[in-house]
Amino acid sequence: MSKTIIISNRLPVKITQQNNEYELQVSEGGLATGLGSIYKEGDNIWIGWCGLDVPKEDESRIINELEKENLAPVFLTEDEIKLYYEGFSNETLWPVFHYMSTYAQYDESYWESYKQVNEKFRDAVIALAQPGDIIWIHDYQLLLLPQLIREKLPDTTIGFFQHIPFPSFELFRLIPWRAELLNGMLGADLIGFHTYDDVRHFTSSATRVLPVQTNANTIHQDDRNITIDAFPMGIDAKKFDALSKTEEVRLINDNYNEILGDTKIILSIDRLDYSKGIVQRLLAFEKVLIEHPEYIGKISLHMIVVPSRDTIPQYRDLRDDIDKLVGNINSRFRTSAWHPIHYFYRSFPITELSALYNRANICLVTPMRDGMNLVSKEYVASKTNEPGVLILSEMAGASKELIEAIIINPNNLAEMSNAIVQALEMGKEEQQTRMLSLRQTVLKFDINHWVKIFMDQLKEVKELEKSRYAR
Ligand code: G6P
Repeated sequence: MSKTIIISNRLPVKITQQNNEYELQVSEGGLATGLGSIYKEGDNIWIGWCGLDVPKEDESRIINELEKENLAPVFLTEDEIKLYYEGFSNETLWPVFHYMSTYAQYDESYWESYKQVNEKFRDAVIALAQPGDIIWIHDYQLLLLPQLIREKLPDTTIGFFQHIPFPSFELFRLIPWRAELLNGMLGADLIGFHTYDDVRHFTSSATRVLPVQTNANTIHQDDRNITIDAFPMGIDAKKFDALSKTEEVRLINDNYNEILGDTKIILSIDRLDYSKGIVQRLLAFEKVLIEHPEYIGKISLHMIVVPSRDTIPQYRDLRDDIDKLVGNINSRFRTSAWHPIHYFYRSFPITELSALYNRANICLVTPMRDGMNLVSKEYVASKTNEPGVLILSEMAGASKELIEAIIINPNNLAEMSNAIVQALEMGKEEQQTRMLSLRQTVLKFDINHWVKIFMDQLKEVKELEKSRYAR
């Protein structure tokens, strides 16, 4: 019996350590939910890093705990976390792929570690894989893995999906190891991105860097055909829709209404990341308060920033910049009864998020660059009673689908602050019309749809390849 093996840098669980005991918390994340229907079945398995630096003597305990959930850990040493994860993945690939190449470090020791850790993942896969298995690899931390597996298991079905943007060739070419990275990815049978622009950028980089031929959305290399396509990722929309109607969420909302009264809420939720445009968003909000003093005391920005990658200098600096800016704006405009910005630097339980999404009059999603951006979809799925307005950056993959949002360029502060005012003044009817269309899109093209179309196409392209060889 063949099985499916899913591989991502992080496992879909959070492991915490307390008094020599390890605690497992299964992730509520979209990918974990969507792939839950796959990896929890039969012998299927998800391989990834458990997110902790685990002492050798504790490894077997973790392995046993995870096995019960169909999960298999890859353990990373302190050095590997530094060089492969923080280094090459997040100080080289992340900034270049998000068009912030001036932040990128091109460091030989990062690259060496990236190669070694991709090989470590390969060994973990090979230890479990049988001929006929389907392998689905996720994201930029594992770009070399498809080819590394292909070398050992030449006939295996391998899918690769990248959750972050693929940059234009002029950015991608900056990376000294560009050819190796492309060859690594091309070990897959099917390579998926969120948008057609990413597909276009990838194909253009492959043809300029490597001796490959293309035909429509197929790349031909060494007598193999590799299909490149767009699969815009959805969310577990039904879960968000249902959650917002629960008694628990209603009670949280009653509490908000009591505290906030008629104040119009502008909501923003992100991981702490320079790609998210948090500073630009704060400046646009400040501009609204400066140019429209009639809103003072009547609107507030609820900004949730989830701590992330805080060992990397740019992330630490960004946190300081946000602290300062929030402090400046609050001290300049606050009154004794009102705060312009409610800033939370922590994560929230999903019920609290649901209540906030449901209550928010505006959701402000302004990344400088984002593969998809699922917050924008979660907001829409949670809007089950009163409508609201989504303001969305054209640099997010989601802007290609959520076209009834107010679409802005996050570098254009005037446009962003005008969009906030437009949203504040938008009539109920227009809000409703826009939200209805947005909800149709988000509820229809959900995470299950995404998993299905990727898996179906992966099987289809493999069958085609097999029949080509049989001829
Ligand atoms: C993005 C990436 C994921 C990553 C997540 C959190 O969504 O596409 O691969 O897991 O950020 O980042 P972290 O570095 O904490 O895993």
